[in-house]
Amino acid sequence: MSAAKQFSPNHFSDSQNFLDKLQKDEQGFLKLSTILKKNAGINMVLNDKNLTLMASRLNSLLKGLQISDYKQYAELLDKPNSKYLADFIVALTTNTTQFFREPSHFKFMTEKLGEIFARKEKQKNYDLRIWCSATSTGQEVFTIMMTILNHPLMSKKWNIKFLATDIDYEVLQKASNGIYQESEMQGVPDHCLQKYCNVFKEKDGKKYQFKDEIRESIRFATFNLLTDKYPFKHPFDIVFCRNVLIYFDRPTAEGVIEKLAQTLVKDGFLFLGHSETGMMKTKLLKTVSNAAYTKIG
Ligand SMILES: C[S@@+](CC[C@H](N)C(=O)[O-])C[C@H]1O[C@@H](n2cnc3c(N)ncnc32)[C@H](O)[C@@H]1O
Repeated sequence: MSAAKQFSPNHFSDSQNFLDKLQKDEQGFLKLSTILKKNAGINMVLNDKNLTLMASRLNSLLKGLQISDYKQYAELLDKPNSKYLADFIVALTTNTTQFFREPSHFKFMTEKLGEIFARKEKQKNYDLRIWCSATSTGQEVFTIMMTILNHPLMSKKWNIKFLATDIDYEVLQKASNGIYQESEMQGVPDHCLQKYCNVFKEKDGKKYQFKDEIRESIRFATFNLLTDKYPFKHPFDIVFCRNVLIYFDRPTAEGVIEKLAQTLVKDGFLFLGHSETGMMKTKLLKTVSNAAYTKIG
């Protein structure tokens, strides 16, 4: 009998009871957290906080699918190529981000861009390839872009290629629309708002949208950092991977950093979140600033 047929709405007439039931289901939590770790790297250990978090994030998803408990859900998720997996991961990712988050990185990048431009100029190579690998709703990739466009040595001869990825297809939709509430634009200098955004008013307030030419120069795509072999044909000059490795266990994070390092050109830069520096073990990189690394060899 299908999951939907086993369901009786009477079972959940009381929403609070359903939530309570999920919150107490330690065995079910363990099944789901194992599936999450295997497929997204996210390491949710069993404790009261995570029991509550998982229940609150999956509650309405399970109701919508008419699934009565974690065990039944785990059975659907654990099938090869399960169509339920993407939404499960979307529900359990944490997407907190903001423009110019950890601002010292953008100051450092501005300093280093001079060196990068000079090196490439010598090689007569006018392509600059940037990968923002856990971009969430896009604030990070637009910040990187504004930092580059504002650079004094930036000119039309440079062909900047941006790739912005995330495992979560929902945040990428917002990122590719490039529309933000006025409150979300805090920290973006006025001259950038004027130069790079269109402004418009809607019922829920003033909004900004990055101009077409800005949005169109970024390729947005889903990508899982756990992927065995990263599929990029050409190496990147700059890679951002910030505030995602904290959700992984150490061996997983170290493995991801190793693969990220392999995607860089020699002398290219990797930026991690400021609280992720302890996971940097690869010999391919050396520290050049706080949570910023350059590829050696
Ligand atoms: C807290 S946000 C960080 C956003 C941005 N990098 C920043 O520092 O502001 C973490 C992002 O990592 C993404 N993520 C989690 N697991 C991932 C994985 N295995 N592969 C790619 N992205 C992942 C989440 O969907 C989320 O959008």
